[in-house]
Amino acid sequence: MKRTLYKNLKLKLISITLAMSIGPLILLGGGIYYQFGKLYKERIEDQIRHMARSQSNAVDVFLRERTTILAMIVETHTFESLKDQDNLSRLFRLINRRAEGLGLVDLGVIDDQGRQLAYAGPYSLKGLNYYQQPWFDEAMRRGKYISDVYMGFRQVPHFIIAVKGETGNSSWILRATIDSDIFNRLVRSAQVGTSGDGFIVNRQGVFQTSPRFDGVILGDSKIDTQKFGEGTTVIEKKVPGSDTRYIGGSWLKDGDWVMVISQIAGQEKGWLVRARNTEILIIAIGCLVICSAIVLISHILVRHLEQTDKEMNELNSQLIQQDKLAALGKMAAGIAHEINNPLAVIGEKAGWMEDLLAEEEFRNSVNYQEFAASIAKIEEHVDRARKITHSMLGFARRMEPRLDDVEINRVLDQTIDIMANHARINDIEIRKHFTDRLPVIASDQSQLQQVFMNLINNAIDAIGSNGTIDITTQLDKDSINIIIRDDGPGIPEAIKKKIFDPFFTTKQSGKGTGLGLSISYSIIEKMGGRITVESSEGKGTAFVVSLPVVLPEKK
Ligand SMILES: Nc1ncnc2c1ncn2[C@@H]1O[C@H](COP(=O)(O)OP(=O)(O)OP(=O)(O)O)[C@@H](O)[C@H]1O
Ligand SMILES: [Mg+2]
Repeated sequence: MKRTLYKNLKLKLISITLAMSIGPLILLGGGIYYQFGKLYKERIEDQIRHMARSQSNAVDVFLRERTTILAMIVETHTFESLKDQDNLSRLFRLINRRAEGLGLVDLGVIDDQGRQLAYAGPYSLKGLNYYQQPWFDEAMRRGKYISDVYMGFRQVPHFIIAVKGETGNSSWILRATIDSDIFNRLVRSAQVGTSGDGFIVNRQGVFQTSPRFDGVILGDSKIDTQKFGEGTTVIEKKVPGSDTRYIGGSWLKDGDWVMVISQIAGQEKGWLVRARNTEILIIAIGCLVICSAIVLISHILVRHLEQTDKEMNELNSQLIQQDKLAALGKMAAGIAHEINNPLAVIGEKAGWMEDLLAEEEFRNSVNYQEFAASIAKIEEHVDRARKITHSMLGFARRMEPRLDDVEINRVLDQTIDIMANHARINDIEIRKHFTDRLPVIASDQSQLQQVFMNLINNAIDAIGSNGTIDITTQLDKDSINIIIRDDGPGIPEAIKKKIFDPFFTTKQSGKGTGLGLSISYSIIEKMGGRITVESSEGKGTAFVVSLPVVLPEKK
């Protein structure tokens, strides 16, 4: 009953303090975790946006440079000179020698009917007709044109830059093929880290350069380019598993192509994620420390409380006992006083009647024996009643113990001697286990004797006949213990609490007063000691008297 009470209290204490301390910590941890996540996302988005923008700028510059060169050639050369094969070849060699990294694979001059009049380059494409090619039309219309990547006559992916020239009222086109290796290398420089990819797709989502993962040049990228808004946009895409791929797109080539940069979040974590993990670790350790501290403190607290409660209870029961004795003391004083006088008169009259019986006239009476027996009975019972009132007055007076030099072992020896006969008649053996280390103490010898007598008497009464009483003395730290143990029937749990109560007895009426233990209790208490009882039913009972070691003053 009590145990579960303390257990519940402990549980409540632990759960409330846990909630109060761990709750905010977890909230704080969650907040920081969320902030880290946000910061990380912003950072990676910034990074991708920046990369997409600068990469698209670089590609734009690349394309513009080549377009400008072609435009300058068109401006500075006539159609007549360029359509001359020798002139064109010379010009081509010159350009390649002077500007090697330009990446021009070939040059061609095409008239307004789509015929290639002159061609300089590694293929033999002279005389081919480009009228049907989609770029031809666009170039004629716009003046300058950069095509998408396509296979063309040579069946390798490439793209061309075409610039229109005008001579009189006829138009022509100077066309150059761009080295897709050089172009691809430029774009691929954006493929960073382990998961970063960089490539170009056209408006329809077709790869214009080779992506690093999932796809080939001219394949479908499955990217919806409509999702990329003005300027540079970053979109998020969940990938199978738990990571997110961030895709940044920046338009280039007048909105024909998109430079795409993509990166999986989580793989390029770096310091942010390390910091976040450290934070989680610190908070977890903090939680652990707090938890164990709370459990420990609650345990100590509740145990302390339990202990205090126990002591309080003991103190309470002692106080109750003292109260009872005090109340009894008052009552006893009154009763004893009132009864003592009539008792004295009865006793005196009985004595006088006894004297009278000794005279001749009564002696010869027929009922002499009857009278004599009755008077003896009266005297016996008056004596008994006097003893009781005497004991009761013992309470009332609350006699202060007289201080003699007492050797406990000797007092016990004397008491046992007095009781020996009574014990022997009942076949009870009294065994002594005395320590000889006991100091002489200052105490009241006759009161102690009364206590020991009461206890030994009780033991003999409890055993009835045939048994053993063990009497032990011990020296504790600052007390002397006297243990009187019998192998009698023991004390039932139900009455254990009452045995020190005045007038509590289980003996037949007339046999016991029920005052023995209560008087003993008050005597020992006044001496600053304690009487306790240990008993198990069927096995026996032990009364322990503890007396403080009070050394006699030197005379
Ligand atoms: N050693 C013991 N073994 C078993 N029961 C005991 C023992 N000592 C005391 N008791 C129980 O405690 C009760 C009270 O004891 P207490 O000495 O106060 O009164 P009593 O012995 O009944 O009467 P009185 O002391 O006047 O003869 C006893 O009646 C008995 O039931
Ligand atoms: Mg008794």
